[in-house]
Amino acid sequence: MRRLFPRLAVVAVASSALLSACAGSGSTAVGSGADTDAGTIGLPMPTTAQARWVQDGQNMQKQFQALGYKTDLQYAGDDAQKQNAQIDEMIQHHVRALIIGSVDGTALKAELDKAKAAGIPVIAYDRLIRGSGNIDYYATFDNFKVGVLQANSLVDALGLKTAAAPKTIELFAGSPDDNNATFFFNGAMSVLQPYITSGKLVVPSGQTDFKTVATPKWDGKTAAARMDTLLAGPDAAVTLDAVLAPNDGIARGVIGSLQAHGYGKGKKLPVVDGQDAELDSVKLVNTGVQYSTIYKDTRELAKVAVEMTDKILNGQTPDINDTKTYDNGVKVVPTFLLQPVLVTKANLQTVLIDGGYYKSSDLG
Ligand code: GAL
Repeated sequence: MRRLFPRLAVVAVASSALLSACAGSGSTAVGSGADTDAGTIGLPMPTTAQARWVQDGQNMQKQFQALGYKTDLQYAGDDAQKQNAQIDEMIQHHVRALIIGSVDGTALKAELDKAKAAGIPVIAYDRLIRGSGNIDYYATFDNFKVGVLQANSLVDALGLKTAAAPKTIELFAGSPDDNNATFFFNGAMSVLQPYITSGKLVVPSGQTDFKTVATPKWDGKTAAARMDTLLAGPDAAVTLDAVLAPNDGIARGVIGSLQAHGYGKGKKLPVVDGQDAELDSVKLVNTGVQYSTIYKDTRELAKVAVEMTDKILNGQTPDINDTKTYDNGVKVVPTFLLQPVLVTKANLQTVLIDGGYYKSSDLG
């Protein structure tokens, strides 16, 4: 009798592997932790261009599978129309819930209407979906605080509180179709604007409004091109001390442009912040090229979204901790906010390596 159990376990694992193999592209079947089919969860995600979204998708897949769900994970290549088509298809395939990392937070109204009509709950993942009442919950990091932390890191690195002479800075923001980008920028400006107003910080280009400094699609190449233009124009005659960069991809684009214009050799590189703790940027923080990044533990965000979904599907009420901040134009969306963490060379080891996000050997 004793011998029977291991054999049964082998059969269970083998049949779940078989289910996985049959699940088709983009789908994964029941994980070994579950013995019932709890249905499929649709996971439309924006892009694989930033490493974080790949991790977000994988983390959710793993966690859903452990609870007995299948997942349909699809990336839209930063194309809003493509994402709409993917969501339509998921609705037609009767997913039980949708967790959406949107490309364009304002372009999903029709899809959410269809989801509502089909009785499919919707969670906005990391990025708020605007202009629709048919969104149930939002799981994200404190986006305003991200901007505050980014700007504070620049203020500290510049010693701005005690600096005698004014410092120079150029500003970059994220993609205008991403609701988070405004929060990051507003958070950063809540710290920087008083210094700009008092003259302690000078923006040589004079470009300080969101629309002018935004970077469509969060594209690092677009940011590099704008930095090139600034360095050949208003910044040609000055030495830049800092650049506000809303994420790591943009930070690396900006740094590349600065290096191509002589910074980092004879001239000291400006302090540049970032976001997402992408490995390529963490390496630069470790070698002192990029000053800081913001760590958002995507494992934790996935956990929140998975728990929310599981509770909704089991008739329970998900945990939330913010009922005021995220007005999407139609309703204030009940939200669970996680805390972002600033990473500089000083705490990189403790936060990212000791915390298990990366291994020492990853840093090269
Ligand atoms: C934002 C997100 C950031 C960053 C950025 C670029 O919405 O909150 O963490 O990933 O998109 O993809």
